[in-house]
Amino acid sequence: LENGLARTPPMGWMPFERFRCMTDCARFPRDCISETLIKRTAELLISGGYAAVGYQYVIIDDCWMEASRDETTHELLPSLERFPTGMSSLGDYIHSLGLKFGLYHDIGEKTCMFRGPGAARHFDLDAQTFANWGVDYVKMDGCYASDADLDRGYPAFGRALNRTGRPIVYSCSWPFYKSQPDYSIISQHCNLWRFAEDVKDSLTSVTNIMTRFSSIQNLLTAHSGPGRWNDPDMLVLGNFRLSYDASRLQMAIWAVLAAPLIMTNDLETVRPEVKELLQNRDIVAIDQDPLGLSGKKILQWRNIQVWARPVRPVNDYGESSFAVAFVNLGGFGVCPLCPQTFHVLLSRLGLQSSMGYWVVDLFNKNHSLGFFKPKDKFITRVNPEGVTFYKFTVGHSY
Ligand code: DGJ
Repeated sequence: LENGLARTPPMGWMPFERFRCMTDCARFPRDCISETLIKRTAELLISGGYAAVGYQYVIIDDCWMEASRDETTHELLPSLERFPTGMSSLGDYIHSLGLKFGLYHDIGEKTCMFRGPGAARHFDLDAQTFANWGVDYVKMDGCYASDADLDRGYPAFGRALNRTGRPIVYSCSWPFYKSQPDYSIISQHCNLWRFAEDVKDSLTSVTNIMTRFSSIQNLLTAHSGPGRWNDPDMLVLGNFRLSYDASRLQMAIWAVLAAPLIMTNDLETVRPEVKELLQNRDIVAIDQDPLGLSGKKILQWRNIQVWARPVRPVNDYGESSFAVAFVNLGGFGVCPLCPQTFHVLLSRLGLQSSMGYWVVDLFNKNHSLGFFKPKDKFITRVNPEGVTFYKFTVGHSY
């Protein structure tokens, strides 16, 4: 969507995968979807150093609403019990920290978790309410809507947002709810869009989303770029089920895909080594690369996959650099859960510049691997269910 926003993939935080629709604040005060959780997270984005790396959108997912609209004005109402000071003052608080404010909504009759009314028949009112509250990002879900409602509703709500005059990033779940999504149309109306199922806290879920991406990657990458991004869903790093290596894997592949980096975790309990991954500036820089070209899976050899993304710098011959991730899915050979060595010629990876490439390890920038030409062999050793991730910086002119 050409509304001047999301020139690089949005970064931030959203509670859904971690906190789901917990509304029992009496029993679970730390985990319920409430003003307290949102403020605590906003503060931790700043004090924990996340905001300085680029994580700026604090997005409240489903379950923030009262079950029905205001009887006289028909406006949406936040849960009085859990958001007692209201969305406008919460938005002010988030803005006072220098962060941006996002809210969930649904294009159909109800939100997915039944905790509130959808936008149906109230597009202008709801868009204006959001603008009045200082919302900077809308995540628009697609439950309780027919195919026709989706196709008509998503563009219409986008226009309603535009009419408010407030710059609001528009995130759509439109393709996820359609059997044959038209990405050319979707990318004209949305800044980002969910193309796969909800992410869960497991490596299987992460690799399922990767498989979904690679199965339609030519289609998906044809329509992405500045202002229009494929959204493989949230980063689940920092929760319960991803190993350290699997956490690296999600981080690397999401960067290759030019994915929005929206964490879903409890920032208070993220372990230091995972925090370091989330805040790896070299990897975030790959994700946010200004060329805005999405990467792809370029090679699969047994259980090893290679994913690559063209990035800056570009040399005088128009040849780009590359970020290349080598994934070991495990489960193959005499020792299916051992590190595995992988050899490949650079030219096989599409790295063809006769100027050659300087290679550094993106998980450890001080580790330089040297200089390689297209006919050279590159060797990497990848942990089971893990990844190695390198930047191949193209040589310049003589
Ligand atoms: C489905 C979406 O895909 C999730 O990300 C989340 O927003 C839930 N709905 C909330 O109900």
